[in-house]
Amino acid sequence: MSILNSVIAKTLPFIPKIIVGKVSSRYIAGTKLSEAISVIRQLNAGSLMATLDILGEDIHERSAAEAIGIEWRSVLKEISGQKLDSNISVKPSQMGFRIDPEYCYDNIKSLVDEARRVDNFVRIDMEDSTMTTATIEIYKRLRADGYDNVGIAIQAYLHRSDADVRALARLKASFRLCKGIYRESPDIAYQDRDEIRRNYALLLRTMLEAGCYVGIATHDEYLVEKSYELIQKGNLKKSQYEFQMLLGVRELLRASIVKAGHRLRVYVPFGEQWYAYSVRRLKENPEIAGYVLKAMFLPNHK
Ligand code: FDA
Repeated sequence: MSILNSVIAKTLPFIPKIIVGKVSSRYIAGTKLSEAISVIRQLNAGSLMATLDILGEDIHERSAAEAIGIEWRSVLKEISGQKLDSNISVKPSQMGFRIDPEYCYDNIKSLVDEARRVDNFVRIDMEDSTMTTATIEIYKRLRADGYDNVGIAIQAYLHRSDADVRALARLKASFRLCKGIYRESPDIAYQDRDEIRRNYALLLRTMLEAGCYVGIATHDEYLVEKSYELIQKGNLKKSQYEFQMLLGVRELLRASIVKAGHRLRVYVPFGEQWYAYSVRRLKENPEIAGYVLKAMFLPNHK
């Protein structure tokens, strides 16, 4: 990333929310469920699957966790009622983990149970490293409780992921493999881009060789090519993996993956709590400086 981009990324907390909202609108489906549903309908019409995320994390009050639980049920009802091709992605810290881990487990279990009833699937997002062990435990416990309509996300930047993947592969886990978005210390996470790529490719190979279903979540062309090689080498069927990308990111690459005949799922976030997610996305945008400066100084620029 250029120096100007890094400077803008570091000053994001001081940039007015309205500007951040404007430049990050491409990453968010809207604030209402109806807007997200309409985005999913368009994606499905273009042969893309979706996974829906209600924005918001780090909930500390039971009333808020309960409201989210109700909202998730409406989401599942809409997906099923409108016969959309979409599953859902949830975060333990949104489901009440900071209030009480046991309460969080019950909330997630009840959502997975409802998803099973309407033939849907719940992917558990992976948050920062303070949540890794607990998230894996939640996943394992759900599987031990008999739920198969649930999957987990693994971050290639964490040193521990190799051991985690080997252990989870024994359960034939359904994985999403991503690089990892949170700032983690060099003691526990690779920092170098090439090391993260190398570990990503290694983990992907382990997952696929173990016969696990993998959501290959990346916008990195190098890793997409590596994945193609592994898919070809393993003679994999389309039903054994999917690619995954975030809404608003690298749509040309997305189209080329679909054109090559692979299935692809788009992560569709919506909701009032769009700020934290938007900042994370903007920091990854290699053209962040241009977007932010245009929005600040050319307010009518599209
Ligand atoms: P990289 O960041 O190197 O991006 C490759 C290229 O894509 C860049 O060079 C740029 O051209 C483009 N690009 C990437 N981001 C962009 C952006 N925001 N705007 C414009 N261009 C952009 N993380 C996590 O910790 N826990 C999780 O549960 C998930 N879940 C998840 C689901 C899905 C479907 C995806 C695709 C990603 C995640 N992530 C995640 C995020 C992931 O860890 C990672 O931070 C991003 O995907 C960026 O990594 P890439 O592999 O895309 O490479």
